[in-house]
Amino acid sequence: MKFFLDTADLDEIEEAASWGALAGVTTNPTLYSRIGGKIDGFHDHIARICDVVDGPVSAESVAMTRDDIVRDGRILASIAPNVVVKLPIGVESLAATKTLAEDGVAVNMTLVFSAPQALLAARAGARYISPFVGRVDDIGSDGVASLEEIVRCIHNYDFGHECEIIAASIRSPYHVTAAALMGADIATVPFGALKNCVKHPLTAEGLAKFEADWEKVKNA
Ligand code: G3P
Repeated sequence: MKFFLDTADLDEIEEAASWGALAGVTTNPTLYSRIGGKIDGFHDHIARICDVVDGPVSAESVAMTRDDIVRDGRILASIAPNVVVKLPIGVESLAATKTLAEDGVAVNMTLVFSAPQALLAARAGARYISPFVGRVDDIGSDGVASLEEIVRCIHNYDFGHECEIIAASIRSPYHVTAAALMGADIATVPFGALKNCVKHPLTAEGLAKFEADWEKVKNA
């Protein structure tokens, strides 16, 4: 499973990229707003992320009609070769995905919560599908079970084009493990949760013991 970072924060992206395991980035309007992003600077900001990341960078369109989505998607795709156009699932975005995919523009279909949504996205030509995990947990359902249904349904078929599942709305190392166990292709993880993936209480305990014992060696 590949790791993407779910953020629009360049400092976080540069730091995670330095760890050597970062394969891509996903952004959305909420994440861009969280860093104080302005409309005028959006395309430049995506270009800067694309310079830092050696892999796909999802930039979301907020257009509502198929024609507007296609127009916006083409503009976003022209920012850099590694831009992926992110679209929330719906009738208009499915139609736009078909056109964009025929043009060779990669689409990441987001806000996916069910297997039928995922199957439709794959059939329309989406290069990536992003089922959400944490937001399903948030409403008292089982986000991991929902992701597993989607992964199994997508893996049952050949869509005639590469189609990878990005486990999104990841909140914890447990979500990462569950996504990997079921064969999700990618997990897009917020920086805080990614840092937690590096940690383990027994690693911390073992490190403290190494340090204490090395002090004894130095003083022997
Ligand atoms: O890529 C967007 C998705 O990961 C959202 O996550 O934490 O806002 O549910 P969250």
